[in-house]
Amino acid sequence: MKKILVSTGGGDCPGLNAVIRAITRSARRSGNWEVWGSMEALNGVMQDPPDLMQLTEANTAGIHIKGGTMLKTTNLGNPLEYPVQQPDGSWKKMDITPSVAERIRSLGFDVLINIGGDGSQRISQALWENGLPVIGVPKTIDNDLHATDLTFGFTTAVQIATDSFDKLVTTAESHHRVMIMEVMGRDAGWIALHTAIAGGAEICLIPEIPFDLDKIMETIRERYEHGKGFVNIVIAEGAKPKGGKVVGVRSGNHAEEHIKLGGVANYLRVLLEEAGCPAQVRATILGHVQRGGTPVAFDRILATAMGAKAFELADAESWGRMVAFKNNTVTSVAFHEVAKEPKLLSPDHYLLLVAKSIGISFGD
Ligand code: F6P
Repeated sequence: MKKILVSTGGGDCPGLNAVIRAITRSARRSGNWEVWGSMEALNGVMQDPPDLMQLTEANTAGIHIKGGTMLKTTNLGNPLEYPVQQPDGSWKKMDITPSVAERIRSLGFDVLINIGGDGSQRISQALWENGLPVIGVPKTIDNDLHATDLTFGFTTAVQIATDSFDKLVTTAESHHRVMIMEVMGRDAGWIALHTAIAGGAEICLIPEIPFDLDKIMETIRERYEHGKGFVNIVIAEGAKPKGGKVVGVRSGNHAEEHIKLGGVANYLRVLLEEAGCPAQVRATILGHVQRGGTPVAFDRILATAMGAKAFELADAESWGRMVAFKNNTVTSVAFHEVAKEPKLLSPDHYLLLVAKSIGISFGD
């Protein structure tokens, strides 16, 4: 029997379990493969003894409807920038992918299926360049990967955000308030834009279009002057004012890479209040609620199709590729084609034009 190692890395995302289940079931049917999972991303293989779990039809049965990942995950311990303590007590980030690749090989695995976002796929490529057979499966609620038209988890996040938005509309209406709802997405406005259209927001603020406070105030005043009496705003966590900066904190943890975004909804609330907003303003930050719970049917299907494709590539020894969803079908791209920059909303994206045509303001 040949052996597949599966890993889930980076932030979790609804649909990860469906991928794990699809790989396990496809492998079981082929009759030639055993499937194992590395616990907590690749930390499982790096430990001594390794923390691995054999994946079977029995222990993956029904998991496709559950959020999270049965293999657990982490965004710490990136082997490309692994913090190694130096003799003087300081920390230095080092590339330890050669030893991770060697370790996976020495444990008898024939291929690694690495399920993760942009950071994880850079690790996939590095391990592949170190001679390890690797296949990537993309995931992120942010939908910001160039190589794939869609990522599983995104549609679930939009549904959760839209359900929350609907609830805020009724309370905004009752109190004649301005409600601001902050959604995730890092540097991309995909979740915000989809939620604004689905929910019927008056204003949508996204990282790709820095906002002008005067324009936002204009839209709010018009609404109140025309007797509408309430306003609902969706703001992406990475949105910023023209000439301004994103709201977030740099983590004090030496192992974390990113600025933690969050809080721009409150920042905007204060700006609106100081500018004389004609109504009370309240801010809601959805946060990790968007990543939790059961995946919607579409994400279960997309994740299952991606898992089956990953196994197909493994079985065909088509290493060095990442599964992708393009033109309504599941396909794959070579790691070197996976762009390093995030996929952002272009000014002529059809949904941006739709939103503008129905009168959603982007504060520009
Ligand atoms: O990339 C997914 C995402 O949920 C982003 O939308 C968000 O900025 C980030 O991860 C949050 O990361 P963490 O779980 O580390 O707080």
